[in-house]
Amino acid sequence: MPYLPKQAQPPPASLCIYVWFIAVLLPHFSGGQTSSIAFTKAQLGSKSGSAMATLVGPGRAVNPYHFTSVKAATYTKAAVSCAHPLASQVGAQIMKQGGNAFDAAIAVQWALAVVYPGAGNIGGGGFMVAHMAGPKATAGKLLALDYRETAPAAASQNMYLDSAGNMIKNASLHGHRAVGVPGTVAGLYATLPYAKLPMAMLMAPAITLAEKGFVLTKTEAKKLNDSIVVFKQYNTALTAFVKEKPWQPGDTLVQPELAQTLRRISKAGRAEFYSGKTAQLLVAEMQRGGGLITASDLKNYKPIWRKALSFSYKKHVIVSMPPPSSGGLLLLQMLKMLEHRPLASYGVLGTKAVQLIVETERRAYADRAAHLGDPDFWHVPMATLTSDAYLAGRMASYDSTRATPSTQIQAGVLPEKEETTHISIIDPAGTMVAVTTTLNGTYGSSTVVGGAGFLLNNEMDDFSSKPGVPNMYGAIGGQANAIAPGKRMLSSMTPCLILKNNKPLLVCGTPGGTTIPTSVLQTVLGLLDFKQTAAQAIRTPKFHHQWLPDIVYVEKAFPDDVADALTLMGYKVVRREPIGRTELIRILPSGKRETAADIRGDDSVSGF
Ligand code: DON
Repeated sequence: MPYLPKQAQPPPASLCIYVWFIAVLLPHFSGGQTSSIAFTKAQLGSKSGSAMATLVGPGRAVNPYHFTSVKAATYTKAAVSCAHPLASQVGAQIMKQGGNAFDAAIAVQWALAVVYPGAGNIGGGGFMVAHMAGPKATAGKLLALDYRETAPAAASQNMYLDSAGNMIKNASLHGHRAVGVPGTVAGLYATLPYAKLPMAMLMAPAITLAEKGFVLTKTEAKKLNDSIVVFKQYNTALTAFVKEKPWQPGDTLVQPELAQTLRRISKAGRAEFYSGKTAQLLVAEMQRGGGLITASDLKNYKPIWRKALSFSYKKHVIVSMPPPSSGGLLLLQMLKMLEHRPLASYGVLGTKAVQLIVETERRAYADRAAHLGDPDFWHVPMATLTSDAYLAGRMASYDSTRATPSTQIQAGVLPEKEETTHISIIDPAGTMVAVTTTLNGTYGSSTVVGGAGFLLNNEMDDFSSKPGVPNMYGAIGGQANAIAPGKRMLSSMTPCLILKNNKPLLVCGTPGGTTIPTSVLQTVLGLLDFKQTAAQAIRTPKFHHQWLPDIVYVEKAFPDDVADALTLMGYKVVRREPIGRTELIRILPSGKRETAADIRGDDSVSGF
């Protein structure tokens, strides 16, 4: 029976709670089917354009008013794991309709920009690594796309310091001056040549989700409420994220300005964002709020294809992102320091295993602080940092009975409240795509472009604003990662692929700032060394050490006895909030796709 047949605009929040109750809760009580609730075509917006828009709506493949998180499943052909059930479903449906993993990666990123505004974005940046299956000409090809933000031309090394040379509190974190030139839209268009479907089709689900709204989960409602004060403080125009009464789970979030922005991009392409009306709105927002980004910063933005960082580990080939992300290099260094040690015999979360892993983390992160930055501005000594001899030397001071104090570990002598999001995809042909994308902090700079409805990043905080002074992730750095016009800030994002016998095996990644490389490391070790299932590798409590501060951070579920044993060995152990949200797909010997999404959030898998 049609519901609300004539309503052209999205229903008010109270009605939405009712719809949500009917759609989400009632079926659980009555065992009923949600397909009994059908919106009319008028409500879904006949303007939505392409046929693909019909993917989204009550009773359709992607129902924005009724969805659940699926944490683990095994699919025959294609799989997606990402931070929001609706975006995962969009990705799977795109592949069902003939798209490949690149189509899905593009469509999922547009969808996350709508349904996961804390980190999904068009005002941020990211990295993609891929391993191509398919026709001989491309089979086995590795891709690494850098669409990281850049510092605006007017940025300068000391821009966040006061006249006494001290850091100005929150200057690199909140508001207009914290924003780097966004790279996401350029990145999605740079990915398009590898996709099969037109961009308009890949954007259509996101446009419908923005225009007609989607139901907020409990987590997302809380996150929005937690940020209302900063949204009010840092915005020059009203945003869709602020309303009079607190958000409730089941409310519908509608983003009409974002929908218009997406429609404009869908019609006019990349240029709309970088030199069209959207660019004008972004520059006007900067001018209203004292930000630095100009029209020419936007016009000059370019994504960069880089050589994927790949290396061997125990008969596998691991593929990740090179600088300006530190992620791939840290993963390489830590795995190589572990490769010839009997880790598996120490057991998952065994004290000996944790202690050894912590010591490799400490040493790798010391190098990060001194040597890593945007390779187009700073010579990163990759050959040395990745050599077996160098890494063996780094472990010479390792003592299995005690903590090596970080004061005794310097970078090798040689001649970054958080939110990012990761997407793992495998398509029917076996192409693997891993994308990690970010606004940096939750909701980035908390600044929404007036009239355009999208959040801007606060990625400038990933630079080292002052040597030795920690950023929001406690990471310190020096000249290698100092601010300079046009430079990319050092990242920790670690989109990761693994091949075995030259065949695709798995794709994974996570958000978490500086904890990203250590989470990815522990997930990879869980799968390859400790023989865990995908879901086990994700659920195992994570721990993290980053050289400075000299602390082993552990999740709440980390075993007490191991924490006590580490303390006795001289480690300072501190419990903290959840570490990362890992999304993982592995191809089983049968060819099936074992797919898992993190239990630490609303993350969900989808596939067929
Ligand atoms: O690029 C980076 O390393 C950070 N901007 C990532 C931020 C992040 O992962 C926050 N997530 N929880």
